[in-house]
Amino acid sequence: MLELAGIRAGYGRIEVLHGLDLAVREGEIITIIGANGAGKSTLLKALSGVVKLSAGSVTFRDERIDKFSVEQIVQRRLVQIPEGRQLFGPLTVRENLALGAYSRRRGAVPVAQRLRRIFALFPRLEERLDQQAGTLSGGEQQMLAIARALMAEPLLLLLDEPSMGLAPLVVRDIFAALRALNQEGLTMILVEQDARIALSLAHRGVVMERGRFVLEDSARALLENPEVQAIYFGQRESNLARREAKPGYGELSPGRREADRGHQEVSHGLSLETTWADDQGEGA
Ligand SMILES: Nc1ncnc2c1ncn2[C@@H]1O[C@H](COP(=O)(O)OP(=O)(O)OP(=O)(O)O)[C@@H](O)[C@H]1O
Ligand SMILES: [Mg+2]
Repeated sequence: MLELAGIRAGYGRIEVLHGLDLAVREGEIITIIGANGAGKSTLLKALSGVVKLSAGSVTFRDERIDKFSVEQIVQRRLVQIPEGRQLFGPLTVRENLALGAYSRRRGAVPVAQRLRRIFALFPRLEERLDQQAGTLSGGEQQMLAIARALMAEPLLLLLDEPSMGLAPLVVRDIFAALRALNQEGLTMILVEQDARIALSLAHRGVVMERGRFVLEDSARALLENPEVQAIYFGQRESNLARREAKPGYGELSPGRREADRGHQEVSHGLSLETTWADDQGEGA
């Protein structure tokens, strides 16, 4: 469904992605795992057209899309949920959803029916339709970010750290919704720092280090890989500490600073890792 061949991209003269190859099959969830700065967000931005390639190609459903604008790519139903959610805070839930539908006003499924499906997945959004997006809880904001993307009727959904800053129970709800969407046939590329969370949902994973893919395997094999466990499990905790220490971080990504604050609140006095591990067996 999606093929990357030798893609290189970066910012100005600085190259961040150093030649990536990957094939994503229809119906699968593939996760990209990597530390801070590995280039995960840059990769998603390169696929959604936000960052332009300096070399290589991206083919989506037998069509080269790497020269297309973001708008043209969304119209082909490849939709990204950006890191930090980027909702329109002063607008209501209803208005944010309407904006999501803008690229597919005359889509395959009528807008009212798309909304019904979204409310079945995230009933809390229906209860808060007239609330300003900026006043939603972190979990509700993530649900809205996913819902807004769904309004564009994606065939391939790109998710950049949907678990960021959220309590384990909310993460479980959101990942259950993602699993349900995948079972309806939606293909996904999921970026996460915490390999355990991502691999529990994905079929396949790719490990990215400094702009290169260094390992690709089934999610099960990667979950059991001792090196992956040692380096990438529990990243949420360690990265939070690192981000706290990084000056000016909030200016680069205000959405994420918000998210981190939420994370701190919920993780106070409670172990994210154990709670998540306890949840694992339930097949959420
Ligand atoms: N807008 C930008 N301008 C210049 N450099 C950037 C920009 N955005 C990202 N970079 C740089 O590109 C590299 C990869 O960043 P990217 O955000 O893709 O990493 P990431 O894997 O998503 O990290 P994180 O886990 O912290 O989100 C980093 O060195 C970063 O400083
Ligand atoms: Mg990122």
